[in-house]
Amino acid sequence: MVKRAKYRGPGGARGARAAPGDERVQRDPLHHIAEEHLRQREVCAALDALAGADRPDTDAARECLEHLTVFLPRHTRDEEEDLFPLLRRRSTPEDEINETLDRLYHDHAESHDAVPRVIAALQRMIAENAPFTEDEAAAVSAFAQHERRHLIVENAIVLPLARVRLTKDDLRSLGLRMQQRRNRLTKEDR
Ligand SMILES: [Fe+2]
Ligand SMILES: [Fe+2]
Repeated sequence: MVKRAKYRGPGGARGARAAPGDERVQRDPLHHIAEEHLRQREVCAALDALAGADRPDTDAARECLEHLTVFLPRHTRDEEEDLFPLLRRRSTPEDEINETLDRLYHDHAESHDAVPRVIAALQRMIAENAPFTEDEAAAVSAFAQHERRHLIVENAIVLPLARVRLTKDDLRSLGLRMQQRRNRLTKEDR
């Protein structure tokens, strides 16, 4: 039996999972992002559990798949199109944040390149009700490890600095943009 964390989607522990496109962004968008990071850690744990198990868990695989295909791309766009540019604009040279943000953009690109392999492995597990092959398990574990390292930097450096540097108006516009993205009102989501 695979031990795994239950991924609850954007509804979190407080309630039923909201359907994609039906999610409310919290009043504090930085808190919303932090909560999504918590759920990303849960998904990493679920991926590791799947990679280490000799039996398939298609429910867990479906939840991971939904995360990787719906929620993670949206989260990445929140950061790349809104949070990171705001932080660049508001930070001071002493903050020395630009190199860190460059590194995080690079992480996103690596993640984007690695994720199709993980998605394919999850889809095969679901379709064939079979555990990962050794190669699939290695790719999935490496992806989870990469994502965890990324989260540590965002939680330890980016979010605390954003909390200090972003203005009330910045937070309002960040929240609005995130909500529009979740309402599928942005052009790219149509
Ligand atoms: Fe993030
Ligand atoms: Fe990120």
